[in-house]
Amino acid sequence: MSDSSIGVAVIGAGMAGRAHINGYRAASTVFGPGLPEIRLVAIADAHEPFAVDAAQRYGYQRAETSWEAVAAAPDIDAVSVVVANHLHRPIVEALLAAGKHVLCEKPMAPTVADAEAMAEAAGKSDRVAAVGSPAINAIREQITGGSLGKVMHFNGHYWCDYGFDKDAPMSWRYKGGPGSGALSDIGSHLVDLGEFLCGPVDSVRGSVLSTLIPDRPVPLGTVVGHAAGVAVSETREPVGNEDVVTFTATFAGGAVGTFSVSRIACGLPNSLGFEVFCEGGAAAFDLARAAEFTIADGSAPEPVNGYRQVLVGPGHPYITRGLPMDFPSVGHGQNDLFVFQARAFLDQIAGLSELPPCPALADGLHNMRALEAIVAAADTDGKAVKVK
Ligand SMILES: NC(=O)c1ccc[n+]([C@@H]2O[C@H](COP(=O)([O-])OP(=O)(O)OC[C@H]3O[C@@H](n4cnc5c(N)ncnc54)[C@H](O)[C@@H]3O)[C@@H](O)[C@H]2O)c1
Repeated sequence: MSDSSIGVAVIGAGMAGRAHINGYRAASTVFGPGLPEIRLVAIADAHEPFAVDAAQRYGYQRAETSWEAVAAAPDIDAVSVVVANHLHRPIVEALLAAGKHVLCEKPMAPTVADAEAMAEAAGKSDRVAAVGSPAINAIREQITGGSLGKVMHFNGHYWCDYGFDKDAPMSWRYKGGPGSGALSDIGSHLVDLGEFLCGPVDSVRGSVLSTLIPDRPVPLGTVVGHAAGVAVSETREPVGNEDVVTFTATFAGGAVGTFSVSRIACGLPNSLGFEVFCEGGAAAFDLARAAEFTIADGSAPEPVNGYRQVLVGPGHPYITRGLPMDFPSVGHGQNDLFVFQARAFLDQIAGLSELPPCPALADGLHNMRALEAIVAAADTDGKAVKVK
């Protein structure tokens, strides 16, 4: 921290970068009053128009075209790294060496070896992204100390359609070996979520990783996010990683998990959902309805027993003072979750403990080890592969 304020920067002004950029801007407007002054210092993106546009829109002091400028800047204390996965390690290591606090997007790195090196280098304030959801936290509270009790079966899906169009342009998302596709991009969230509710995965079985669209056209312009609307050339490049992955898992606590992940699920832009079947009942969540969940716990008598809808409100984690209007059932969306994440990271730096902290880089490393086991379990004829 410089002069008891915190200077922040975001590296990467693409799809997720903008959510981080907005998160820092809003972080000091929510929750308790103890946060030091937050200075919105810099946005760095290799594509200058993105950096300039985002800095102007969100009120950051300057735009940079190199992440090295952020690492070298004495007025920057905390940095989000929101670029393609293969760039995470060199950037995070340079930022740590320069004494910055780092919030790194998931998946932490392309390989376990990279993630190990990053975790080794990390200090106590360095974090990996995991957005805080009021509804999912409320379900976890019912698992750990409420009516649901221990999970017996977690069933989760993360289905997206950004790759459904076979002529959607080639981008970093389609490059890399097995496990670097749908599994890293969106499956990493689902594994993280399963472990948030059920505890660590012990072993994985029966993985199937499939590439259904083998090549994609080279884009003619700069691709951002899922590359909608970018013109493409006639040249096509091979896709190096999976469109779909399914697998089963056993959690150390005894629960079984069934997982399904796809980036070619027609009509579903961002469909994350799960069911947990527990000793005392069951609950379900659908990200399209982020501010609610359903729960069945046998608390009503038989004729009217069944799932009931719960709209999250001030009784649930993150809502009170976490939203400008923290009134029951006003609702919130995924951008709000990035505000909670930014606030939790800044609180961590400032020594405040109001929110659950973002996970450490060591937790990101564990996630990488689980992904590694999922890939390995594609070649074992159904035999279990332990997560290291
Ligand atoms: N937590 C979430 O919900 C979530 C959602 C989407 C993406 N992500 C993660 O965020 C990261 C970025 O994903 P995205 O969808 O925003 O990607 P993106 O392709 O939309 O954006 C990446 C940006 O990085 C810029 N860039 C490329 N090389 C650079 C460099 N050397 N220095 C600075 N900037 C550079 C690009 O110009 C682009 O603007 C990935 O790790 C991804 O897995 C997380």
